[in-house]
Amino acid sequence: MRILGIETSCDETAAAVVADGTQILSSVVASQVDVHHRYGGVVPELASRMHLEAIVPVVQQALSEASLKPEMLDAVAATQGPGLVGALLVGFSFAKAFAYAHRLPLLAMDHLEGHLYSALLSDPPSVFPFVALLASGGHTGIYYLKARGDYQLLGQTRDDAAGEAYDKVAKMLGLGYPGGAVIDRLAQQGDPQKIVFTRPYLDKERFDFSFSGIKTAVQRYIASNPETWVAAHRADIAAGFQAAVVDVLVHKLLHAAKIKRCRHVAVVGGVAANQGLRDRLAEAAAHKKLCLHIPPMALCGDNAVMIASAAHHYLGDPKSTSLQDDVYSRHRRTVCEPDGS
Ligand code: KG4
Ligand code: ZN
Repeated sequence: MRILGIETSCDETAAAVVADGTQILSSVVASQVDVHHRYGGVVPELASRMHLEAIVPVVQQALSEASLKPEMLDAVAATQGPGLVGALLVGFSFAKAFAYAHRLPLLAMDHLEGHLYSALLSDPPSVFPFVALLASGGHTGIYYLKARGDYQLLGQTRDDAAGEAYDKVAKMLGLGYPGGAVIDRLAQQGDPQKIVFTRPYLDKERFDFSFSGIKTAVQRYIASNPETWVAAHRADIAAGFQAAVVDVLVHKLLHAAKIKRCRHVAVVGGVAANQGLRDRLAEAAAHKKLCLHIPPMALCGDNAVMIASAAHHYLGDPKSTSLQDDVYSRHRRTVCEPDGS
């Protein structure tokens, strides 16, 4: 079963062909980072226009790298939400037209679900039931995945997402956008104990996060110290900030594994690329005898492989998508309602 996946929820135009849920035949990602970099963040209107320019060549490239013609596909899947409405509309409308023209079933996918299923693309793949930390630029939450299609949000951020906090702190330090990877690299040269920032665990027993407090603490630190001192200690600030974020993420994920009695734990989303987080989790998982699953770097950030792969689980679902369906910008409530347990 070969599925063409399309992802345009933010600033990456991506298309991929995946066979039988896990065999990646092609994956193309056209990033708009260079354009948005100038503005210090994603400009939604620009993102939509760039998706429009890129969508046809990106899909063509994905098909040609997979050596497939459209009629050799079994379905087309596209991200329906959450994300930027204008950006989503480009990929979703393209997928509708493509499905209609080639008489293929259309599968409307949830972006977060795509990230969650990328745990099954790690090596070795995750095994149900498992708990997953989804940390990206738009979302941060802890999920319990009991079986395919049966998952539960245990808790999520009440304000900024982890990746968003990285991007904002990078901006404060004059490191540009996006900031996650830059802070990660800089942090490795700094002393994480030199400048200690607050750890907002909220309630340590629950799974809600808050990252805006850490961000504000960094902002205050920068504002209350001389510019030359800040410039000379950027690596220590980055290391202190990263240590605070990683401490909270690791604590909550391990606590969820304990409460849900899961031996398998996963980390997905753009922030899963973070070396500091990966190292700390590898250490902690070994200590607690847990199996840790993190997708390969190329599948942590936004991509279309995760969309095609997640769609595989819905093939043949009687609730197949109608051409009247529309995109959505925020969480689909049925998918993401926390139960607090
Ligand atoms: O999953 P993703 O590509 O897009 C969303 O769905 O939001 O995640 C992007 C986020 C950005 O905020 C970026 O700064 C962050 O992931 N990120 C990182 C790293 N690489 C990307 N954050 C921390 N450390 C990294 N190495
Ligand atoms: Zn994402």
